[in-house]
Amino acid sequence: MMRIDILTLFPEMFPGVFGSSILKRAVQNQYIELHTHDIRDYTFDKHRRADDYPFGGGAGMVMMVEPIARCIEQLQSEREYDGIFLMAPDGTTFNQQKANEMSLLRNIILLCGHYKGVDERVRELYITEDLSIGDYVLSGGELAAMVITDAIARVIPGVISDGASALSDSFQDNLLSAPVYTRPADFRGHRVPDVLLSGNQKLIDEWRMNQQLSRTQQRRPDLLSHE
Ligand code: ADE
Repeated sequence: MMRIDILTLFPEMFPGVFGSSILKRAVQNQYIELHTHDIRDYTFDKHRRADDYPFGGGAGMVMMVEPIARCIEQLQSEREYDGIFLMAPDGTTFNQQKANEMSLLRNIILLCGHYKGVDERVRELYITEDLSIGDYVLSGGELAAMVITDAIARVIPGVISDGASALSDSFQDNLLSAPVYTRPADFRGHRVPDVLLSGNQKLIDEWRMNQQLSRTQQRRPDLLSHE
């Protein structure tokens, strides 16, 4: 079973996301173990201080190395980790391929950055890779850790009941998904494409593949131009 440990200043952000939908089922059915750790529990002083002013001055606070180091070392004394990832806007951009790769790891740590950033020595000493979820700045790494956890969990074989479902997601083959429809076949004159009602699976599969290609060409031509 895969295990993800998340280090954060805001553990209260996670239960809603981890306790709903597919992630909830993945945990219940023991495909994945999710643990959040409050970095403040690893501070030394009575104020539970986890950040401080930057050396050299400047705006914003910096997350201190010591509490993060203690938390990571505690976890490392309990088991081996395949990767320690820092959530940061200047990291490698996360994508489907990365989600697939990370789903094959056993134990990983996701560290959520905050404020101006984390003391650079955290990166030097512990971080194996920085990950960004896109070219925009979030208030903290927590949402990024949730996004990455969700994307990883859903590609673990068995997590999605329909075995083929995650593999047919948009991006799995660098193609966007075909449009989908359910009842009614006619909604205020807007009809479901006839082919989907034809019962001819070969024609339906062809139609879907054509839709995937034309949608990708139209909306995300960049996906067709490489690999
Ligand atoms: N922290 C702040 N912004 C982020 C982003 N875009 N991705 C990952 N972590 C972040």
